[in-house]
Amino acid sequence: MIQGKKVVYSATQPTGSITLGNYIGAIKNWLKLNQEYFTIFAIADLHALTVRQVPADFRKRALSFFAQYIALGLDPEKNILYFQSHVPQHAELTWILNCFTYIGETGRMTQFKEKSSKHNDNINMGLMDYPVLMASDILLYQADLVPVGIDQKQHLELTRDLAIRFNNLYSPTFTVPEPYIGKQGAKIFSLQSPTEKMSKSDPNPNATISLLDEPDAVMRKFKRAVTDSDGVIKFSEDKPGVSNLLTILSAVTDKGIADIEKDFAGKGYAELKKVVGEAVVEFLQPIQSEYNRLIADKAYLMSVAKDGAEKAQAIARRTLSKVYKKIGLVQL
Ligand code: TYM
Repeated sequence: MIQGKKVVYSATQPTGSITLGNYIGAIKNWLKLNQEYFTIFAIADLHALTVRQVPADFRKRALSFFAQYIALGLDPEKNILYFQSHVPQHAELTWILNCFTYIGETGRMTQFKEKSSKHNDNINMGLMDYPVLMASDILLYQADLVPVGIDQKQHLELTRDLAIRFNNLYSPTFTVPEPYIGKQGAKIFSLQSPTEKMSKSDPNPNATISLLDEPDAVMRKFKRAVTDSDGVIKFSEDKPGVSNLLTILSAVTDKGIADIEKDFAGKGYAELKKVVGEAVVEFLQPIQSEYNRLIADKAYLMSVAKDGAEKAQAIARRTLSKVYKKIGLVQL
């Protein structure tokens, strides 16, 4: 509990660009939990270093992600918004938790296996340690709830295991967090291969919608979206492409899927794709104009980042000193 409220924590790593998948699967729920909880959201820049980054691009991208958080409606007055690398306690707690994590536990993570096969020339320690850094993010803030997409569920389970293990070995130290995964949209799929997740770092630009895509690009990508050949507009497991479009339309318009299906009774895929494209363009328009204003004001963004880092550090310091004390490190 912080200031009498339960704590919500989540983060995004600044690789590629923020997609509609990240928004629908995670950030939309961050906004929903905003009022009721004490909310903390980070740019997980240290996580992004597990793959090679071009320094100048990386710096720019991380700041762009930060501006997009605010443009999406995360008010810096109501949320702690900060960069992970500005709070040294993340790396410090990671070392401690490393000593409580078995190699087999991180080695069997699906994301580790996928990333290792994708970057088989650079299977570094960081890639394997990624979930432990993520556990540190969450546990430092004593988070109760972690809103994420389904792909992060396994990492959350490891986080819970580590918290429980530490609490049992010493005494209650960490809050054991629960994942918060939406019933709808927990996995938004690629527009080009709708059985795979829409991924920020997909090299095929037609597969993803970035929050900063121009209207023309959005319309074109939806027009080319892969569907199927039976021509019926309904949500069904055996119709991944059409179901994905329906989920996206529902998320950006807040209309139920059953109502959308009714609207489209007897209509064709071309019409559906056009309507989804238009709804997404309309949804993105105010976000993009707010983003353009924010990204031009670096002094403001840096002042928010500094304020966020200070607030985050104050909480993180408290947890870390508790941990240091419990494990028996000499206190100054
Ligand atoms: P990342 O940066 O890959 O994704 C950010 C969030 O978006 C969700 N997501 C999706 N949801 C639905 N459909 C998709 N296609 C889709 N793609 C991504 C992710 O589940 C995530 O919630 N390791 C994390 C970042 C992280 C983190 C944390 C999250 C670092 N520390 C602490 C929570 C708590 C990651 O790489 O997410």
